Amino acid sequence: MRRKVTIVGAGMTGSSTAAWLAAREICDVVMIDILPGVPQGKALDLQEAMPVIEKDVTIVGSNSYEETAGSDIIVITAGVARKPGMTREDLMTTNANIVRMAAEETLKRSPNAVYIVLTNPLDTMAYLVQKVTKLPSHRVVGQAGILDAARMRTFVSLELGVSVENVQCYVLGGHGDEMVPLTRHSNVAGIPLRDILPPDRLSAIVERTRKGGAEVINFLGTSAYYAPAASVVQMVDAILKNKHLIVPASAYVQGEYGLHDMYFGVLTQLGRDGVEKIIPYDLNAEEKVMLNKSAEAVRQSMETLHKLVKLD
Ligand code: APR
Repeated sequence: MRRKVTIVGAGMTGSSTAAWLAAREICDVVMIDILPGVPQGKALDLQEAMPVIEKDVTIVGSNSYEETAGSDIIVITAGVARKPGMTREDLMTTNANIVRMAAEETLKRSPNAVYIVLTNPLDTMAYLVQKVTKLPSHRVVGQAGILDAARMRTFVSLELGVSVENVQCYVLGGHGDEMVPLTRHSNVAGIPLRDILPPDRLSAIVERTRKGGAEVINFLGTSAYYAPAASVVQMVDAILKNKHLIVPASAYVQGEYGLHDMYFGVLTQLGRDGVEKIIPYDLNAEEKVMLNKSAEAVRQSMETLHKLVKLD
């Protein structure tokens, strides 16, 4: 039996995710959206691409959650996207209500699913999904770190003229401007970035990574979707195939780096049950300071959430 992945939100990120999932032929896909006709139309269009790309998967679009029953993974991308000049926090009020409803409706029909959250503000929305569903925290994970690291890998690869495959980067912390690109641990074919790039070029790449989302928004007028969607697909693949894949992601921390009861970007190991492990880095004093600053930003975001939504 083919595995089933539901994507709530058939907008740019949701539909790009569906297209890339279908191209991998690893699952059937259901897309849900409130806009009448949109998920149905996108799903049919995508389904009709399958003979050409020679993939046997079913893609269904609906405005009703009935179609989602029995999903292995629920991806939540529903909500409003950022526009130029907006921070991810500006989306909170609207997106908290949308994400809450998406979590409640999907849980009723897919009680065994793993949740991957994309809607921003990311760490706070992942926290909301865990609180609303009351699932074990390892079954709710936020997509951010793969994307942030992919942006950093892109910039390093362009700077040095080497294959993206040779560039490994790691980014911790909240999915906001205070995120922490780990320059000591990031490397090109095992050689630390600090040994390859002059300090001013490395600082420029760190800054560009932190503002990577805004850079796209300023061109496009709305938030990025290809790289976010590709990042979700990597997570879905790791979970469905039980790969034990080590990637940065937003996970529920319980003492890691001295942080408790929040979702935060850490190094995770992903498998069948979601987050199998959080793998801690041995951070130096400078990195700890940056991480704490990022955690403070996420805490403030969570305070805003608590004012908006009553959670147990
Ligand atoms: N239920 C289902 N879908 C909804 C709901 C809802 N209650 N409310 C809104 N949506 C849908 C919209 O109709 C739209 O099709 O969510 C979709 C969002 O798509 P886009 O506006 O294209 O936004 P996108 O770029 O996909 O970003 C979605 O992901 O990366 C984050 O910051 C981004 O929070 C944003 C989210």
